[in-house]
Amino acid sequence: MNEMRTAMLLLLCLTLPASSTTSHSPKVSRASAPVTHKVVAPTVAPSSAPSLAPVPASPTPSPLSPAGPAESPGPAPGKGPPIPATKNGTLDPGQMAALQSLGVAVGSDPCGQGSHQILICDESTPFRHLLFLQLQYCPLDAVLTEGALLNLTSLQALSFLDCPMLPVPLPSQLISSLASLSCVASLGRAAGHEDQPGLPGVWVSHLHDLVDLTVIDVVLNVSSLELILANMSVLHELTISNTSLRGPLPKVWPINLTSVDLSLNHLQGPLPSFFGQLEHLECLDLSGNNLTGHLPESMGKLRSLQKLQLSSNKLVGPIPDAIINMTLLTYLDLSNNNLNGSILSSLATLTNLRYFDLRNNAFRGVLPLNTTFINRLNTFRMDGNPSLCYNSSITSSKVVSGLSPCDSNGFPLPNPGSGGPALAPGNEFGPSPQPVEGTQHSHKRHGPKTIVWAVAVALGAIIIFIVVAVAVSRWCRWKE
Ligand SMILES: *[C@@H]1O[C@H](CO)[C@@H](O)[C@H](O)[C@H]1NC(C)=O
Ligand SMILES: *[C@@H]1O[C@H](CO)[C@@H](O)[C@H](O)[C@H]1NC(C)=O
Ligand SMILES: *[C@@H]1O[C@H](CO)[C@@H](O)[C@H](O)[C@H]1NC(C)=O
Ligand SMILES: *[C@@H]1O[C@H](CO)[C@@H](O)[C@H](O)[C@H]1NC(C)=O
Ligand SMILES: *[C@@H]1O[C@H](CO)[C@@H](O)[C@H](O)[C@H]1NC(C)=O
Ligand SMILES: *[C@@H]1O[C@H](CO)[C@@H](O)[C@H](O)[C@H]1NC(C)=O
Ligand SMILES: *[C@@H]1O[C@H](CO)[C@@H](O)[C@H](O)[C@H]1NC(C)=O
Ligand SMILES: *[C@@H]1O[C@H](CO)[C@@H](O)[C@H](O)[C@H]1NC(C)=O
Ligand SMILES: *[C@@H]1O[C@H](CO)[C@@H](O)[C@H](O)[C@H]1NC(C)=O
Ligand SMILES: *[C@@H]1O[C@H](CO)[C@@H](O)[C@H](O)[C@H]1NC(C)=O
Ligand SMILES: *[C@@H]1O[C@H](CO)[C@@H](O)[C@H](O)[C@H]1NC(C)=O
Repeated sequence: MNEMRTAMLLLLCLTLPASSTTSHSPKVSRASAPVTHKVVAPTVAPSSAPSLAPVPASPTPSPLSPAGPAESPGPAPGKGPPIPATKNGTLDPGQMAALQSLGVAVGSDPCGQGSHQILICDESTPFRHLLFLQLQYCPLDAVLTEGALLNLTSLQALSFLDCPMLPVPLPSQLISSLASLSCVASLGRAAGHEDQPGLPGVWVSHLHDLVDLTVIDVVLNVSSLELILANMSVLHELTISNTSLRGPLPKVWPINLTSVDLSLNHLQGPLPSFFGQLEHLECLDLSGNNLTGHLPESMGKLRSLQKLQLSSNKLVGPIPDAIINMTLLTYLDLSNNNLNGSILSSLATLTNLRYFDLRNNAFRGVLPLNTTFINRLNTFRMDGNPSLCYNSSITSSKVVSGLSPCDSNGFPLPNPGSGGPALAPGNEFGPSPQPVEGTQHSHKRHGPKTIVWAVAVALGAIIIFIVVAVAVSRWCRWKE
């Protein structure tokens, strides 16, 4: 379940064309990039620094580096002539003991087994050390100990998946080596288990060298996000989702953030205007919170943004003009808010847009988007905006389900049931439409097919009239 959810969250960001830099396996390599110097575990002799560790050798993170969990543990083609016998070493015995104490089922040579998805070792000799470890589906009695963590300070990435163990203080060496922490339904109370404590925000906030932080499906005990982020200056990717996180959005953000997902929490208050500082931000998901106020004009400074997901909040006011400066935007979801005002015609300049959802808001006036623009989208949702209508001479009724056509003043045409003098022919089609379907029914009337129908019905009525008239006149004559 949770794996699927994590995968889906990742996919959301991945569906963006240019964000292949955020895929899962690169997470490890990417996370390790800024801390390359830390790869050499303390116990390893300086001369044996591996040249083929699963960490990018180049200083720049290579987004498509093959450092996937499945590939990395494979034996490395030994380049070091000094000690050929240890060219594929085994895992450090202390780390082996730590893994066993954590209940990780590993064979005699965990690093050597190519099929492992849960750990990645470096290539150091004589013993290899763990770079990445995922503890998953832990038994209820599994215990996390400081002793075990003290033996695992070579870790750059640590992940918990469905591990209900309680958090323990982290050794300072681990704190400074760890670039990536993921905690999914682990280390704290799950919803519905009020007897267990939540994951303390303070525990997370100590990890100030994190490049990548993920906390999903666990109650996070902290009064505001600001406390967690305060010292995380090198953070790139932040996911805190479904954690009951409350309080306002922070005033200061780590400057190099590329992805922020704070969906499904209890965040309150306005969107901060200083989001505009985050010029590397590609993905912003704040859906399912209690955010209020306007969309700030400074949003337009988020020039790298590709995905903007603010649905299911309490946002009001118009879409700011500045949105047109987000030229890379492919995914825009502002549904289920109280946004109002008219929809900007300049939105048509966002030619990368593929997903466009403004459902269930209070937008009004004439939809200024033509059929060409809408046909380029994969998803276009506008229903649930009762005062919004479309101009049938620029927008085809086929591409705007759930909207009414406009009258000549730019207001939605009323439902046929409420009576319009010119609409009489429509009522002859059969039972009068239900109120809910009224808008759909009325916009069909403007297609070429319906005009043909209307003419046919009118002609039919005239013919019937003539036949009746003739019959009546004959009857009159016959009577005479
Ligand atoms: C080295 O790797 C090979 C192939 O993976 C394996 O057969 C061999 O047992 C390993 N040697 C040691 C000392 O682990
Ligand atoms: C840590 O490693 C040492 C050897 O380096 C070992 O004696 C000890 O049992 C290990 N601790 C745990 C908790 O595995
Ligand atoms: C949250 O943390 C505070 C201390 O920071 C503690 O007193 C409180 O019991 C915790 N609440 C829960 C639900 O764990
Ligand atoms: C949120 O997390 C709880 C566990 O804390 C889980 O039961 C629930 O299904 C999650 N909700 C969603 C929408 O994933
Ligand atoms: C952040 O770092 C400063 C100085 O290093 C320290 O005083 C402060 O307590 C830290 N804050 C948190 C939340 O860890
Ligand atoms: C942010 O990224 C830039 C360039 O990638 C780098 O020079 C700078 O040091 C980073 N800032 C922080 C706080 O990591
Ligand atoms: C939003 O706030 C209202 C009232 O303050 C509360 O009832 C509701 O549960 C909150 N929703 C979320 C998602 O936090
Ligand atoms: C868009 O960016 C340009 C500079 O590139 C700036 O002059 C303009 O004010 C921005 N538009 C909005 C609406 O913020
Ligand atoms: C939008 O809604 C706000 C508050 O509900 C209101 O003050 C404002 O006048 C509305 N704006 C438009 C253009 O309807
Ligand atoms: C649709 O709108 C776009 C952008 O405003 C414009 O470039 C294009 O010519 C329009 N297409 C039609 C068929 O009107
Ligand atoms: C609909 O579009 C046509 C052609 O662009 C224009 O003449 C007409 O005024 C528009 N109607 C409304 C209600 O905006």
